[in-house]
Amino acid sequence: MSDTVIVADKLSEKQLEYMQLIAEIMEIRKRGEKPLAFIRTYGCQQNVADSEKIKGMLAKSGFSFTDTPDDADFILFNTCAVREHAEDRVFGNVGALKNLKRKHPQILIALCGCMMEQEHIANRIYNSFPFVGLVFGTHSLHHFPELLYSSLVNSKRVFERGNDDKKLYEGIPVKRDGTFKGWLPIMYGCNNFCTYCIVPYVRGRERSREKDIILSEAREMIQSGYKDITLLGQNVNSYGKTLPEPVSFAKLISEIDTIDGDYWLRFMTSHPKDCSKELIDAIANGRHISKHLHLPFQSGSDRILKAMNRHYDRKKYLETIAYAKEKIDGVSLTSDIIVGFPGETYEDFKETLSLIREVEFTSLFTFIYSPRVGTPAAKMDDPISAEEKSKWFRELLDVQEEIAAKRCSAMVGATERVLIEGVKEKTNELNARTSGNIIVELEGSPDLIGTFRNVKITKARNWILKGELTE
Ligand code: SAH
Ligand code: SF4
Ligand code: F3S
Repeated sequence: MSDTVIVADKLSEKQLEYMQLIAEIMEIRKRGEKPLAFIRTYGCQQNVADSEKIKGMLAKSGFSFTDTPDDADFILFNTCAVREHAEDRVFGNVGALKNLKRKHPQILIALCGCMMEQEHIANRIYNSFPFVGLVFGTHSLHHFPELLYSSLVNSKRVFERGNDDKKLYEGIPVKRDGTFKGWLPIMYGCNNFCTYCIVPYVRGRERSREKDIILSEAREMIQSGYKDITLLGQNVNSYGKTLPEPVSFAKLISEIDTIDGDYWLRFMTSHPKDCSKELIDAIANGRHISKHLHLPFQSGSDRILKAMNRHYDRKKYLETIAYAKEKIDGVSLTSDIIVGFPGETYEDFKETLSLIREVEFTSLFTFIYSPRVGTPAAKMDDPISAEEKSKWFRELLDVQEEIAAKRCSAMVGATERVLIEGVKEKTNELNARTSGNIIVELEGSPDLIGTFRNVKITKARNWILKGELTE
């Protein structure tokens, strides 16, 4: 698949015209008042980045944004299909809109994103939620203006599930949520087909953006004050393989790193099967690259890794970790883990526990396996009960809590550079984050939000640090 050449296309003139037409229609309907959109995003940063494009297109179509669905003319949920729980939340929240639509029949309710690429889900929405007027999947983003226009002018419901056309689209306007923390997609889709995962089915094949386009977007973000930029892709290590002139991810990030400015560069997600020494060296030598590696290992058991189709084993994973620890001074390691994959035994699970004890991760994202329709794992025998899996899951959390607490305690007394991100509602303390992605809470003025500061770590509480400004 890596020989597929992906052609990048520009957002077409036609879509720009549709945005203009939407603005005109809404101006008449709202009698000159600004139309309002309410957008709720579920799932990962890829979805957040897609929502920022949708907001960009809506802003160009004359919309402003509201945090209250009751005030909105257009309500959109950008959905996630990765686990059943994510889907259940969407169904629950969409169901709750029924009364709102009854009260304000002119509201347009729409659903988009990963869930909508699944036929059985789109059918369920069509049949059970007649008040949803517009549905489109991840492959239809580039003609969202056209879909929105046709939902507004026709009385018919618009349902579209794209097929994977192996293209990506440039030139879509972006309205970023943050002013100093931002997402920068470098690629879309996934070719890995881990047996439990729905992402390749709902996001299509791997497509990389051209290096120069990414570089100029990064430059623009840095010039306009972004301090924390995360490069996004499902497997950033395979960035550039499909480009007419292939480029490695290590080369891309090292080039971005040469841009002058005061900022941190992060990336996610890195797949262990092809996390190269070149990339680890790039992090070690980077001026702006965070000393943080998020490297999901999913399971510590080779048998389960094979059944998951992950293409690495425990030994290879630990070698990569050892190299990262050796080269990157004070590296912060994080990971994703699935508990209760079909056929996993307690013996397999103990291998996961021993791996986390060995590596000592800063933090973990832990999930109980959730069968996804259409994936190979959903057809595998899964004899372990939900109660048993929950027991293992709690055991995993307890072990990690102990490790995180130990790691955090070891940081007490040290001085860390942090980015101040916001104010904690309950205590009025400032929230900040280290380059290694550890949360630090401290006293200080909200004027500091969006700036880098040096902080002396005074206390550790589980995985959260307390600190004080040193200047
Ligand atoms: N591309 C990334 C992860 C994308 S999904 C990677 O390969 O690392 C984020 C995480 O969700 C995965 O790392 C995995 O731990 C979890 N996940 C994916 N599918 C799942 C499923 N069916 N059940 C439970 N967890 C799942
Ligand atoms: Fe899913 Fe695997 Fe692709 Fe990650 S690499 S998105 S877990 S298929
Ligand atoms: Fe969910 Fe789609 Fe991301 S399934 S995790 S929103 S790629």
